Amino acid sequence: MADSALLNETGIQLTLLLLLIIIIAGLTIAIFKFLSVYANILKRKEALEAQKKIENLSEEELENHEQRDRELHTELPENKLSGNIPASDERGVIQNINLVEELRVFPTKRRTSSFQKYISPQLGKLILYFLGTAIFWLIIGTTFGLYAGIKYVAPDADHLSWLSFGRLRPAHTNAVFWGWASLAMVGLSYYVVTRVSNVEVYNIRQGYVSLILINAAVLAGTISVLAGVNNGGGEYREYIWPIMITFGIGIAVSLHNLLKPVAQRTTKEIYISNWYVISGTIFIVIVIIIGYTPIWQNGIGETITQGYYMHQAIGMWFMMINLGLMYYFLPQQLNKSIYSYSLGALAFWTHVLFYTLIGTHHFIFSSIPWRLQTTAIIASAGMLIPVAAGTTNFLLTFSGSWYQLKTSYTLPFYFMSIIFYFTGSFQGTVEAFRYTNLLWHFTDFTVSHSHLTMYGIITFMIWGFSYTLIPRLTGKEPPKLWVGIHFWLALIGLMMYVIALMIGGTQTGMMWMKKKPFIDGVINMFPFWLWRAIGGTMMWISHLIFAYNFYRMVKTKEEVKIPRTPAEILAAKKQLRNTEFNPKNEIL
Ligand code: HEM
Repeated sequence: MADSALLNETGIQLTLLLLLIIIIAGLTIAIFKFLSVYANILKRKEALEAQKKIENLSEEELENHEQRDRELHTELPENKLSGNIPASDERGVIQNINLVEELRVFPTKRRTSSFQKYISPQLGKLILYFLGTAIFWLIIGTTFGLYAGIKYVAPDADHLSWLSFGRLRPAHTNAVFWGWASLAMVGLSYYVVTRVSNVEVYNIRQGYVSLILINAAVLAGTISVLAGVNNGGGEYREYIWPIMITFGIGIAVSLHNLLKPVAQRTTKEIYISNWYVISGTIFIVIVIIIGYTPIWQNGIGETITQGYYMHQAIGMWFMMINLGLMYYFLPQQLNKSIYSYSLGALAFWTHVLFYTLIGTHHFIFSSIPWRLQTTAIIASAGMLIPVAAGTTNFLLTFSGSWYQLKTSYTLPFYFMSIIFYFTGSFQGTVEAFRYTNLLWHFTDFTVSHSHLTMYGIITFMIWGFSYTLIPRLTGKEPPKLWVGIHFWLALIGLMMYVIALMIGGTQTGMMWMKKKPFIDGVINMFPFWLWRAIGGTMMWISHLIFAYNFYRMVKTKEEVKIPRTPAEILAAKKQLRNTEFNPKNEIL
């Protein structure tokens, strides 16, 4: 097919449009940030000019300023408008008045430490353990991914069976799925479910059991996959059944825990976040059971089960939970309510309806019945309804608060993940069409799509939520500069990764259609794989920075506490008196 005819294909045109949307969104954030930096530069320039002026002030000008300063600081004697009786606050009515030191026209940042009281310290600690271990798997898992990517351009980098591509790839995908994303999502769910139910009734011990089981499964799974012990070819089903059952039990224990606050909630409604989180957690347990039940592992039924398994894991677990978390964290981050609750309900039910039917779109033109393939294609087009409803709802929640993108270090993660949600999901719909599927299936285009979604949507969302929540749990903000570096390295790296593989994948598909020798397609991919390795390295470095930012948010630093209230002053005095009698503290 001629290259110009390719551009006439609707699927290709839509893909180009989606790519353009991502680039425009990225540029928008870059412009916002640039304007903010530019304004700062102008201010500094103005400050320098002011300093110069001050240096050159004449004697007369100085005197004028001093005179004006004296006038402005004129003070009335304290008893001018009252008597001579000393003021006292016998009933303690005025001791809690806040000092208004700044204009209230602009929103002021809420002190993160004031959020700490919302959940118990025990729960906060459990959540941090979930997030901490998730980050461990992000780094381990993407180290495998990076090395697998490097092997495309340096296939002879090593000759160890444990590090062969066929083992590295499932070690990577499973570690980032079940280790990174799953652990982080469960941890974040523990916070959201209890907050929107307005009651905290977890069994913390069960929480730790779940944490240990999930981590043990991923550890055992990683080692066994690298050792060559696996479940055969089923993608994301490479862990052998005892390991995946351990993972499933770990999730089921958390499901049991998460159901408690919903059942005992003190709110009348079940907030939409909990619809998503609870059903997503139920779905993944079902999906694992279906994916591993022996009677469905034969013949063409196995292929249908594979399609169901892998797309339900993505749609009904990763996507479902993260969307639920977004309905909580986005309004909280913007300090306003979600734009439309009804749109959220529409998105939820259409998500359940269509997502559960699309698995077979992975096997278009296979020996699976044609009508089942057509059902999957129609449901893939139906996915545009929840995707459009969700995206519109999130973007309209943003409306009126766009200016916050300039100063917030967290919101760019939210904004880009929403853009990726729209573009990545729409791209999935486009890939399901028969023509585009014929062109792209089996090429690197699919790998590009996986990262646009699992990385652009899921991972960016988890980062945004983590930067919102962790400072609220620990009272410590991450260094702003490093969060910025994390964001830009991850975004630019991802764009290099996905654009290179999209172009390269399309060229490979066209070469196959023209019946060119297979090896020609491989040779043609070399520069694109190199770009992927460069982009992947940037993404990987950004993960190390995220780990560092996590450390900065959780590290315990001795707090210097200055006694201010009468109670604190008296307590301090008492302590001092005690130490006077303590010979060991004599030097103090
Ligand atoms: C440093 C960042 C990353 C790098 C360098 C990387 C690299 C890779 C590589 C080389 C593959 C194998 C592609 C192939 O078979 O040709 C792969 C597959 C995959 N990765 Fe990653 N990855 C990264 C991060 C992630 C993250 C964070 C996720 C999800 C949370 C993820 C999800 C996947 C999935 C789903 C596949 C299977 C792709 C498919 O067959 O469609 N990756 N990755």
